[in-house]
Amino acid sequence: MLELNLMKFEVKLVPIEKLEAEALAVFSWQEAREWPQEVLRLDKALGGILKKTIAEEEFKAAFGKILTLHTHGKIKPSRILVVGLGKKEEFDQAVLRRNFAILGKKAKDLKIKTLGFGLSFAKETEFNLEQISQGASEGLILGTYKFLRYKGEKERQEEREIEAVEITAGKAQDLVSIKEGITRGEIYSGATTLARDLVNEPASVSTPTHLAKVAKEMAGQEIKCQIYDRKQMEKMGLGGILGVARGSDEPPKLIRLEHKPKNARKKVVLVGKAVTFDTGGLSLKPWDAMETMKLDMAGGATILGIFSVLPKLKSNVWVVGFIPATENMPSGHALKPGDVLRIRNGKTVEVLHTDAEGRLILADALCLGVEEKPELLLDLATLTGACMVALGEEVAGAFGTDETMVKKVEKAALGIGEKIWPLPLVKEYKELLKSPVADLKNVSKSKYGGAITAALFLQEFVGETPWVHLDISGPAFAEKETPLVPQGGSGFGVRTILEFLISNLSL
Ligand code: BES
Ligand code: ZN
Ligand code: ZN
Repeated sequence: MLELNLMKFEVKLVPIEKLEAEALAVFSWQEAREWPQEVLRLDKALGGILKKTIAEEEFKAAFGKILTLHTHGKIKPSRILVVGLGKKEEFDQAVLRRNFAILGKKAKDLKIKTLGFGLSFAKETEFNLEQISQGASEGLILGTYKFLRYKGEKERQEEREIEAVEITAGKAQDLVSIKEGITRGEIYSGATTLARDLVNEPASVSTPTHLAKVAKEMAGQEIKCQIYDRKQMEKMGLGGILGVARGSDEPPKLIRLEHKPKNARKKVVLVGKAVTFDTGGLSLKPWDAMETMKLDMAGGATILGIFSVLPKLKSNVWVVGFIPATENMPSGHALKPGDVLRIRNGKTVEVLHTDAEGRLILADALCLGVEEKPELLLDLATLTGACMVALGEEVAGAFGTDETMVKKVEKAALGIGEKIWPLPLVKEYKELLKSPVADLKNVSKSKYGGAITAALFLQEFVGETPWVHLDISGPAFAEKETPLVPQGGSGFGVRTILEFLISNLSL
């Protein structure tokens, strides 16, 4: 099912003009007065035409702009692409990835199969070579990602991939740093690509059973996987998951994954919402709101993406993942507004709106997470449209009972170019979730603060365990393409959590 990333990266200790790729890219800051080393070297090798063309074309190196020129046989590569990095003061990890994504797409459009460049611009940023090369590889791989499974043979053939990327390193020490950064970027991108593929598959393919199969395929020496079916979930008292699953013919699954390194020090539990299709249930969504609802398993896909690479990363964190997976369908068996469910920890919930189903399945999974006694419980969920209203399509909302942890997750996101923003757990709003018949109701009657009341609902099930909740409704899926994400699943959160788990800022 998975499209393999064929892009091969090679780091070489040769000057840029000696690279043998079909095309070379050089980078320039907007309105820069000094030229980067690579431009000067290439200009010399080309007898002065590079700087001249840049001047003649009045190329200002604004973000997203690329100037192309031919080398007319003066060096082996036949083209040069001058990439505008934009303003130095606006440069960050997100801009870095976008730049390389734009470069990758341009190279693909020009049918370039081998691309070379140097990264001397790294010196002029606040980032080290490892960070820059990681961002470069993520940008190139993720920016040229396409989900082609259902396209015809012709279109798939025409989608010629960049096959090889050559990077020059000035000295041996740089070569090591660049290689390390690239390897990490390749691992992070591979994990993100798996999450994207799972989201992009139609809901009739990416069913709970399919997700369970993908999880089982990961099991081996390093990863343990258990799948619980409906019967077992009944015994476990998972009333939330079973309630939501009642209306569906697809059997629900609860997936538990575990990676415990030998030198494990801290334990983290990750929970990911996997509603493989959210119709709203009897509180049916209008057709246009349902169009993209295959995205509603993105949280679960994120966990699968993360686990697919955990053994490759030298992390000393013990990670357990829970993925409650079900459809949310209307039928003669479906949950009815007014029904009362009993969650794993014994709390009862009056379900007044069957479209607020994510919190019901997460409630059970969070209880299971608490029972693991982790240092941190972290969930990712496409939980509320309200969070998208608040933060738009590129930013996830972050809630948590442990502010330091929220800050660390935010820092990890910043480090790999994803955007999350803190939102408050306003305790006064807990009133809005009081039910006359059960311990809680699943929706507030208020039109406002929907992302907050959803998070407050989840908080009822985490006890004293330090907890972070990411509402990824906006960034999980791109309705329109952005440089790094084509239309469809983004794999948002995979890289942030990986960064959080392996960087020394974690825990
Ligand atoms: N899966 C949706 C949230 C969602 C909407 C994610 C759009 C991504 C894009 C969730 O299950 C839902 O339907 N939430 C309701 C909650 C409401 C009924 C309280 C919503 O946001 O409208
Ligand atoms: Zn819903
Ligand atoms: Zn949902």
